[in-house]
Amino acid sequence: KQLLQPTTPLTGKKVLVTAGGTRERIDPVRFITNDSSGKMGYAIARELQQRGAQVTLISAPTKLDVPAGVKLVQVLSTEDLAEAVTSAFPSADILVMAAAVADFKPLVSADQKIKKTADNDELVLKLTKTTDILKTVAKLKQPQQITVGFAAETQHLIDNATKKLTNKQLDLLVANDVSKPGVGFNGDTNQVTILQADHAPIKTALANKATIAKQVVDQISQRIQKEG
Ligand code: CTP
Ligand code: CA
Repeated sequence: KQLLQPTTPLTGKKVLVTAGGTRERIDPVRFITNDSSGKMGYAIARELQQRGAQVTLISAPTKLDVPAGVKLVQVLSTEDLAEAVTSAFPSADILVMAAAVADFKPLVSADQKIKKTADNDELVLKLTKTTDILKTVAKLKQPQQITVGFAAETQHLIDNATKKLTNKQLDLLVANDVSKPGVGFNGDTNQVTILQADHAPIKTALANKATIAKQVVDQISQRIQKEG
């Protein structure tokens, strides 16, 4: 079957794709997470695999099936994800950070279940910032490596996303206006704007996530072709 696959710029490329929403423990029975379903990241992993790439999917918990031919690495917290990404990144050609990473985690995770007692009518949970994985990766990045980020925004889409493209030294940034119906988290459809430092923004139509994944992967593929 592999032999019938036509050669593409992605053939044999080692790709890491992250997906899903990370979980930060409050206590043994509770955690903080977000609305990410993982669907966009899984669709990108599938598309890259179908174009001949060697894909490792580093995934926070989702309800999805792993695409055929894709290697799965399961993680829970942002720190788990950071460790998995930074250890695998040096030998990867491409990193696609589609995971919805928790920005804050509980400063302490309680060893025992937090009880409601007669005197605690309020519970204050102190949070601390997590590692910015893409910023860490930016420091490790070699010129031939391609990094792709996502940005979920509810306002000033292009401005905010352009800042992320620059600050995280990304080759490609996929921006989502998550305030629009049918866009971003959880649904089966998406509409994105693909930003690149050396290319005009590409605004896709509202489409299913497989179609959006194709358009994102097309851009990655074109970059590889250009860089030879
Ligand atoms: N990201 C990351 N590490 C984090 C947070 C986010 O690597 N601790 C990645 C995401 O996977 C995504 C990109 O950075 O590819 C942008 O994520 P986003 O949440 O939109 O941006 P932040 O930099 O976290 O800024 P903010 O949430 O404040 O807009
Ligand atoms: Ca964030």
